[in-house]
Amino acid sequence: MAFTVIKHPLILDKLTRMRKTETSSKDFRENLNEIGQLMAYEVFRDVPLKEIEIETPVTKTTGYTVDIPVVLIPIIRAGLGMTEGIQRLVPTSRIAHIGLYRNEETLTPVQYFAKKTEDIDKSYVLVVDPMLATGGSAAKAIEIAKGWGAKNIKFVCLVAVQEGVDKILSEHPDVEIYTASLDPILNNDGYIVPGLGDAGDRIFGTK
Ligand code: PRP
Ligand code: URA
Repeated sequence: MAFTVIKHPLILDKLTRMRKTETSSKDFRENLNEIGQLMAYEVFRDVPLKEIEIETPVTKTTGYTVDIPVVLIPIIRAGLGMTEGIQRLVPTSRIAHIGLYRNEETLTPVQYFAKKTEDIDKSYVLVVDPMLATGGSAAKAIEIAKGWGAKNIKFVCLVAVQEGVDKILSEHPDVEIYTASLDPILNNDGYIVPGLGDAGDRIFGTK
């Protein structure tokens, strides 16, 4: 399935805390990273493993290890707020960065930074951003990652609307999308409703 809403009571509880206006920047960041970590548990379900021979204190046995390099690509700024939580679950993952901001009038993404990792073409790649609104930023970031040679790409967000999901599915049908919530609508200013406001501002305390 190309689009999955990851439903879990702990994710719903943490997301509700994040939505509240009164939640501090510190609590917002902590909950975002914790949700990223919980979502990663599901997102990585199909990650390739290889068998390895190991020795426990008791005996030799067969174990398993992740058999593919993993690259996380946060869309700066807000994507940075989920990345540490995911990396905690896969500590060997490397981080590429893509900097985009939305033009406030047109809502189209403007690129200001991009830094790839080696071997991204052979890697299991997650593009990460908490908000999937018009889908412009996510589609652009995926296009940049594909330009670097990435083939095996998933997009992980926290809150999405159908418009953004549809944009990714039409422009990048090979990319699987994971979210913790599919919210009802996008308002005229391009904000998700009910959403949680401007994720970047809430993570970094810029408003
Ligand atoms: C936010 C968010 C996404 C984008 C989503 O970033 O983090 O990148 O908007 O909107 P879209 O789906 O309509 O493109 P923003 O442009 O506010 O930049 P920031 O992360 O630096 O705050
Ligand atoms: N970006 C955000 O940070 N929040 C929204 O609701 C939409 C886009």
